[in-house]
Amino acid sequence: MSFSHESASKHVTGEAVYIDDILVNDQLLVGRVVYSPHAHARILSFDLSEAQKVAGVHAVLCHKDIPGANQMGPVVKDEPCLAADEVICVGQAIFLIAAETEEQCLEAERRIKVEYRPLDPILTLEKAIEHQSLLIPPRTMLRGEPDKALSESEHLLKGELRTGAAEHWYLETQVCLAVPGEGNELTVYASSQHPSETQALIAELLGIRRNEVVVEVRRMGGAFGGKETQGNHTACWSALLAGVTRRPVKIRLCRDDDQKITGKRHRFLSRYEAGFDNDGMLRALKVELNSDGGCATDLSIAILERAMLHVDNAYYVPHCSVVGNLWRTNLPSNTAFRGFGGPQGIAVMETVVDRIARVLKKDPSEIRQKNFYGIDSRNVTHYGQTVEHNRLFLLYDQLMASSEYARRRKETDTFNNSHEFLKRGMAITPVKFGISFTTSFLNQAGALVNVYGDGTILVNHGGTEMGQGLHTKIQRIAAAEFGVSVERVKVNATNTSKVPNTAATAASAGTDLNGMAVKNAIDTLKGRIAESMALYFSEQHKGDPSRPDTLVFEDDSIRDSKHPDRTISFVEAMGMMFARQVSLSATGYYKTPGIQWDKARGWGHPFNYYAFGMCVSEVEVDVLTGGHTLLRTDILHDVGDSLNPLIDIGQVEGGYIQGVGWCTTEEIKWDEKGNLLTHSPDTYKIPSVQDIPKDFRVSLLKDVPNPNAIRKSKAVAEPPLMLGFSAWLAIKDAVSAVGNHDLEPDFSLPATNEVILLAVERIKDEVKARRGAGVEV
Ligand code: MTE
Ligand code: HPA
Ligand code: MOS
Repeated sequence: MSFSHESASKHVTGEAVYIDDILVNDQLLVGRVVYSPHAHARILSFDLSEAQKVAGVHAVLCHKDIPGANQMGPVVKDEPCLAADEVICVGQAIFLIAAETEEQCLEAERRIKVEYRPLDPILTLEKAIEHQSLLIPPRTMLRGEPDKALSESEHLLKGELRTGAAEHWYLETQVCLAVPGEGNELTVYASSQHPSETQALIAELLGIRRNEVVVEVRRMGGAFGGKETQGNHTACWSALLAGVTRRPVKIRLCRDDDQKITGKRHRFLSRYEAGFDNDGMLRALKVELNSDGGCATDLSIAILERAMLHVDNAYYVPHCSVVGNLWRTNLPSNTAFRGFGGPQGIAVMETVVDRIARVLKKDPSEIRQKNFYGIDSRNVTHYGQTVEHNRLFLLYDQLMASSEYARRRKETDTFNNSHEFLKRGMAITPVKFGISFTTSFLNQAGALVNVYGDGTILVNHGGTEMGQGLHTKIQRIAAAEFGVSVERVKVNATNTSKVPNTAATAASAGTDLNGMAVKNAIDTLKGRIAESMALYFSEQHKGDPSRPDTLVFEDDSIRDSKHPDRTISFVEAMGMMFARQVSLSATGYYKTPGIQWDKARGWGHPFNYYAFGMCVSEVEVDVLTGGHTLLRTDILHDVGDSLNPLIDIGQVEGGYIQGVGWCTTEEIKWDEKGNLLTHSPDTYKIPSVQDIPKDFRVSLLKDVPNPNAIRKSKAVAEPPLMLGFSAWLAIKDAVSAVGNHDLEPDFSLPATNEVILLAVERIKDEVKARRGAGVEV
C-alpha cells in the first residue's frame, strides 16, 4: 500500500521542524568553528586573548579547554575534537567561539592569532603511494588461482580506473543545538544518523556520563552517509560550547564551510587485470583498490571492505583476487556516502565487462548476461557467500523487453550514422548489493512501543529519519502488526533515552532492523493483550473459554477466530487495559540471524541477502562541447514485497540521479595547497531538475517476496545509486560511436564535459592518424 511520506505535507508547508527551526529562549548563543587554513602544519603558538575581549563573546575555546577526552574518532581514536600541536587538513577544527551574534563570532575569529610552520602535505593518491602513507596494512581477498587462470585465458585486459570523490549535498548542512539542563545534564538536538554514538562521544568529550546526555533526532534534512559519523563533529563542538558556557548553543555550518570541513566519498585509483575467453566469459580477475582515506580513519576500513566485497557486482568470477589499500592524505577524512564503497568496487567490474564487449565487438548487454551469477551453479561469490534468490535473469529479461533495448539499439546506430556532431549511446547495467553491516555486530536494533488508553500507539525505535521514509514504513509495519489503521500510529523522534545503545541508520538496513525490533515489541504487547482479552471473553461466555492463541488483531479490532461473535474494538479493549492491570509498554530487540564474516580471511556469509536492480540508460552526447543529455532511463528494481511503492520508487529515482551526478557532473578539485576549489553550488554541479532523464520509467519487480526481512520486504536505499553506471557507460558508448566503435574511449569517472571532450578528441586524432596510414576506419 502506498502512503506518501508521513511528513510530506509538513515538508512542503515548512511546518516540519528541523534543528534550525527549534524554538529556543533568549539565552541562545551562536557557535562557530575556527578551522585550519593549512593542509599540514605545526601550530607553534596561538593567542586568544584579544578574541575573548570582543563584546558579546562568551567563550573562545582551544583543545586545553576540553574537560574530557579530546577525541571524536568513531572507531579508531585518531580524530581530535580540536587540533592541539599539528593540523592535518584544511578545515580541521582548532578553536570554537560562542557569542550572542554571528557578527561577534566573526569579529572574535579575526582577532585570533596563530603562528604555523607549514609542513609538506600529501594531497594525491600518487604521493601517498610513493610515501607508503598507509592508514592500515593492505587487505586481501582470494578465491582460486587468479595468476594461473590469467595465464591460461584466451584474452587479457589490463587497466587503471579513477573514480572521483563526491559531496553529499544534503540540503540541511551540519547543525546541532545543545541545551544544558541541571548539573551535567545536556540535551542535544543533533542532525546525526547515529545518535547513540553522538551521545557516547559527547559524554567522553565532556567527561560526564552517558546517562546525563540525551541525543534527539526528529529528522535530518538529508544525510546520505554524510551524517553517519560526521554529524558527530558539529554535535561535539556545540556540546562543548554549551557545557562550558552553560547556555544553549547552536552551530550551523554555512554551505561553503560544510563543504570545506566535511569528508567526501572516497576517491579511488583502481588497477585491474582480467582474463576471459573468446565467448566473453570471465575466467579471472585481479583488482587492486587504492582508497583515499583522508587524514583519519573514520569509517574508511569498512568502506574499503565493502568495495572489495563488490568488485564482482553481478558476475561470477571463478578466480579472483582483491587487494585493498587505504591511504592517508592531508584532506578532510573521507566518510560514508550512499553505497559505502560498493560503487567504487562495482565501477571496476562494470568497466571490465564493458571492455570485454568492446574487445570482442559484441553488445555489452550480451556479455553481461552471460557472466551473471547462475541460479544453481556458478553462484558463489569470491568471498564464499552463495547468491540466493538471484533476480538477475528476471530483471534482465523483463527490462530488455520493456525498454525495447534491441529496437532502440538499432535506432541509435542509425542515428549515429546520420549525425556527425551528435552521438547517441545506450547501456544496461545491473546491481547486486549486499544488505547488512559488514561489521556484523552492528546488525541490531531496539524499539519501545507504548499503547495508550485511547487506542493510540507511540512507536520509538533506534533508526533515524533523513528523508528516506523510514518512519513512514515503521508506522505501516506497526499498524499492520497490530491490525489497526495507520492513523493510530505515531512514530516519535529518535531519542537515546527511549531506545539506547543502537547502531547507525545506515547500510540500507534501517527498516529491516528497526522494523523487526518494533515487531518484536508488538508481539510482546499482543501476547499480554491477548491473554487479558481471552480472560475477558471467557468471563462473558462462562463454560466456553477463549484462548489467547486464537485471538486475532485485525480491522481495528480483536476477535476470537474460533468464536465469530466474540469481538471488541481495539479502542475499547485498550481503554480496559489499565483497569485490568496490563502493561501497555514494551521494548523490542532484533539482531540479524545467520551472518558470519571472517574479516581476516575475507571469507564467509557477511550479508543477510542481496538487493538487485537493473537499468537501461540512453544518452545523447554533443561531440563539439562534451555536453550530454539523458534521453531515456528504464529501471526495474527488486524491493521484495514493497512496504510502500511510492517511497521505494522515490528512493530508486533519487539513488539513480545521485549516482548519475557522481558519474557525470560532480567533480571535486583541490588546489596544490589542499584548499577545496569546488566548495559551493556555483563550482560543484549536482543534478538539477533539467538533468533528470527526459523519459524516466521506474518500476518495481513484481511477485518477489523476500523471505529474509520484515513483511517480505527488501532494503531499497543504496543499491539504485549504482544504476547510475548505465548513464556513464551509455556516454562511453556514444563517444565510442565517434570512431565507429573501432576505438575504445579513454574514460574515467566522473565523465565531465571535459573528460568526454578529451576522449572524443583523442578518438578523432586516432582516426585521422589511421586514415593517414591508409587504415580503413
Ligand atoms: N534518502 C533520502 N531522502 N535522504 C538520505 O539522506 N540516505 C541514504 C538512503 N536514502 C538518504 C536516503 C543512505 S546513505 C542510506 S544508508 C539509507 O537511506 C538509510 O536509510 P534506510 O536504511 O532506512 O533505508
Ligand atoms: N554500511 C554502512 N555503514 C557501516 C557499514 C556498512 O556496511 N559497516 C560499518 N558501518
Ligand atoms: Mo548510508 S552510506 O550506509 O549512510
